[in-house]
Order: sequence, then structure tokens, then C-alpha cells
Amino acid sequence: MTEAHWWQDAAVYQVYVRSFADSDGDGVGDLPGITARLPYLADLGVDAVWVTPFYRSPMADHGYDVADQCDVDPMFGTLADADRLVTAAHALGLRVIVDLVPNHSSDEHPWFQEALRDPSSRLRERYLFRKPGPDGGPPNNWESVFGGPAWSRDEASGEYYLHLFDRKQPDFDWRHPAVHEEWERILHFWLDRGVDGFRIDVAHGLYKQAALTDHPPSLESQDALFHASAAPHAWDQPEVVDVYRRWRQITDGYTDRVMVGEVFLSQLERVARFVGPDRLHQSFNFPLLAAPLDAQTWRRLITASLAAFEVDGAAPTWVLSNHDVIRHATRYGGGEQGRARARAATLTLLGLPGSPYLYQGEELGLEQDDVPGPARQDPIWLRSGGTVPGRDGARTPMPWTAQAPGHGFSSGTPWLPFGGQAAERSVAAQEGDPGSTLAFYRRALAQRRALRGGLDRTVTWLDGPPDVLAYARRHADGDALVCVLNTGEATTTFALPGATLLVSSDPAATASADALTLPAGTAMWVRAQV
Ligand code: GLC
Repeated sequence: MTEAHWWQDAAVYQVYVRSFADSDGDGVGDLPGITARLPYLADLGVDAVWVTPFYRSPMADHGYDVADQCDVDPMFGTLADADRLVTAAHALGLRVIVDLVPNHSSDEHPWFQEALRDPSSRLRERYLFRKPGPDGGPPNNWESVFGGPAWSRDEASGEYYLHLFDRKQPDFDWRHPAVHEEWERILHFWLDRGVDGFRIDVAHGLYKQAALTDHPPSLESQDALFHASAAPHAWDQPEVVDVYRRWRQITDGYTDRVMVGEVFLSQLERVARFVGPDRLHQSFNFPLLAAPLDAQTWRRLITASLAAFEVDGAAPTWVLSNHDVIRHATRYGGGEQGRARARAATLTLLGLPGSPYLYQGEELGLEQDDVPGPARQDPIWLRSGGTVPGRDGARTPMPWTAQAPGHGFSSGTPWLPFGGQAAERSVAAQEGDPGSTLAFYRRALAQRRALRGGLDRTVTWLDGPPDVLAYARRHADGDALVCVLNTGEATTTFALPGATLLVSSDPAATASADALTLPAGTAMWVRAQV
């Protein structure tokens, strides 16, 4: 890379706005709540915060159904609150990334409302209205990612409209120039307000195959995580990257802004097409989310990720949790052991070049909550008639204090109930405990900051036992940062003379004069000569 940019190595913290901090007691998190908690994020040691959608929305998908992308929903505050958040973050040295949702709008967006009101309106061309299929049913066999058909009938005209998500999230027709113009306006609107970048929702969507033909019947119904493989005409069309070419020109017109795409495709070579000096700066890198914590698998996936994303004008990203997937402490088995393995996995990714994206609550070791059925609110749960659990378990509120019922999140009734872990894993309960997960995150992020300026971006793999993943990055001072992870079931040793411990995921992982000792499911960073 020729020039260093903040986003090439930024640790980014995802705030799920509904569940972070509620300042007005309505049970839902909001922008002033986030602003008040920014010092916590600065202390944690992250570089940037990504705030999930806070725009005007009827909340059918909790804000990912946007009625006005240039206004704040009253539930979350005002535009002045958004400005205050950005100003306060900048004063603390934190950057702010906001979420854009360009694949679809809410059905309450003024364009769609007008399209429904008047079947002859030209605004209909900005969405995908089609005549019924030959049998009078939907025009094709596409399914919604949230379950059920991807088409709903507009009773007034007898036509159907396409929605790859909920029926309240009609897809835009990106073949219409007005859609491009509107999104360029939205980009400028937020860039001019001083945000540092965008997370782009469903970035592999936007364009659909022009003829909207059936997906091949041999393909099984869509897999909620990597739906594109089963629905080739709905996602990742050749034209979509041109949108980001244009957007890169726009963001390059401002100082040091970033775009990270939610490119939800399983094949890294397809994801790689979205990033580069003339397109997106970053894409989420999801294969690790679907992989077991296994040294060989991780080495393969990390190698492939570096090859795909460590390219000029771009940078890799590392993701283990977000608001759409099961929290990684739970994926790795849950309980004490799952949480320990989650810390080890996180430490391993924090040592790599690129941007780790951390999800709120993972620094507390939160596990997936089992939200009682009647309290669940995810459209996936609702549309499936209660057969698919949905994502609410990853979205329960942040426990700031041990004090029920609001746990410092809200003085009212939280929109999703706290699970049994809230008191014990609250920020207050971990504050001041050097053995806590929170203290571990703070140490690891502080070390990362202290080292990164001098670290070479090249990752050199070190060989060891099959359950061990080990890599080194040279430091300008002559030593190297060595990261070692033991994914096996037994304690292992790793020969490395003269190593000094920097940070470990578990106090039982130690460095002696000639070797490192790593209990099962632990990782450590040391300084050594390699
Ligand atoms: C993305 C979001 C998810 C949302 C979907 C539709 O995958 O992360 O939460 O439901 O897009 O906008």
C-alpha cells in the first residue's frame, strides 16, 4: 500500500442501535444513548463505531426498512442528535460509520406509497412491479430470504412487487436512473454531515437479472446465510459493481472516508470483485462465521482472505459476530468453554492486518439469548409462523449494570427481554476485574494499538502441531508479533525461544524460556525473534 489510511487497520465496533442504550425510557436504544456511552467505547480501545440504521422507518425489520434515509426516526432521536453523536465521537478520536440500505426501501417510502396509490404512476418503475405469472400467482419462483415468496400482490392493480426480504421491504429497480440519482444524493447528505463512512446493506443485491426468470428448480430453497448460491438471478449481478465504482468516486471526493459492503456470498473470489481502488474499500468476510474453530480451516480461510482483500486501495475485514448471526461464544459451544474459545478466536483475528468488526456485547462474553417465543420480534420468526428461531437472541439489550430490570440500558421495559446472563456479565460486574472478558478485550485492543504502527502487513505462517495456528508479523523494532492459537482439546506446547508474553486469552496460557504452553481453546500474542 502506498499511503496509510485509518480504515486499513481500524477496529470497528458495531452498535445495534435498538439495544445499546436507551436515554428516554421507551425501552428502545437511541442516538443520545449512544452518545452518552461513547467514552466506554473510547476506553475499550476501538477506532470506529458502526451504527445500524436509525432512519425514519416503520420498523418492520427494525430499521432495515427505511422510509427516509435522510431523516432520523423519532424513536431514535433527531438529525441534531445524529450530528451531536458524530461531533462527540470525533472529539474522542472515534470515527463513525453509518448504515445505508440501498437494495430496498420501506413500503412506507413516499415513492412506494405513490406507486401504490396510482397504478399509472411513473414512480412504479423505481420498484419491480410485474404482472402475475401464467397461473395467476407470483411472476417467478423466487423466495424471500425471510421465508415465503419474494412477491406480494398489490390488490389495486393486480400486479405483484418484488421483495427479497419482508413484504414491507420492496426492492428498488436499480435499472432506473432515478434510483442512482437518489442514492448519490443520500451519500452526499451524510458525507457532508461528517460521517466517516458507510456500511452498505445487502451490497451484493441491488441489481436483479433483467428478465427476472425462475431460479433453476434443482437448487434447494435458500439458505439464510448464503442465499446467493441458491438464487443466482437475484444476487451478485454483473452490473452491481459499477454502482460502487461511482460511489468510490464520490467518497474519494472527501477526505479519508470508507465503504464496507455486506457482500453475503460464500465464494471469496466473488466477494473480492467488490473491493479495490476503484470500488469498495472493504467487504465483510463471512466464511469464518460459518466455519468451525479449527486451526487448519482457519489457516486456509485466512490465507484466502488475505489474497482476496489485502490489495491496493482496500483492506481485509474480520467478523465473528453481528446482529444477524448466532453469537460466536455460543457457536463455539457456549458456557465457560465457548466463551474462552471465543476470546481465543478474537485475539487471533485482532493480530491480522485489516479491520476487525466487533459486535456489541462480545466484549462482555455475551452468549446468544433464548428469547421466549411470545417476546420474539424478528420478521424471520414472524414470517415462518414460529418455525425458524430468527435473530432476536443476538439482539437483546446491552447489560450495563447488574441491576434488574433495566440493567442500566433503560429505565423502561426493554423491547427485548434480558436473558439470564445479564447481571453476571454486565459491564459493571466486569469493570475492575482483570480476569474478565471485558478486561481481556481492553488489553488486546490496547496492545494492538501500541504495535500496529510498526507492524509489517505480511503474515508469515509458522508450522506447529495440527491443532495449532501460528503466524508472525515483523515489527519495525526487529522483533515480531507472534500469535499462536490452540484449537484442539488438549494442552499443547509450541517451541519459541525467548518469547515475551504480550496478551493471552486465558491466564493459563504462558510463555517460558523456550516454549509457549497453551491450554485447549486459548491463544496468545508474544514478542519474539522469528
Ligand atoms: C442485512 C441486515 C439484516 C437485514 C437485511 C435486510 O442482511 O444485516 O439485519 O434484515 O439486510 O435489510
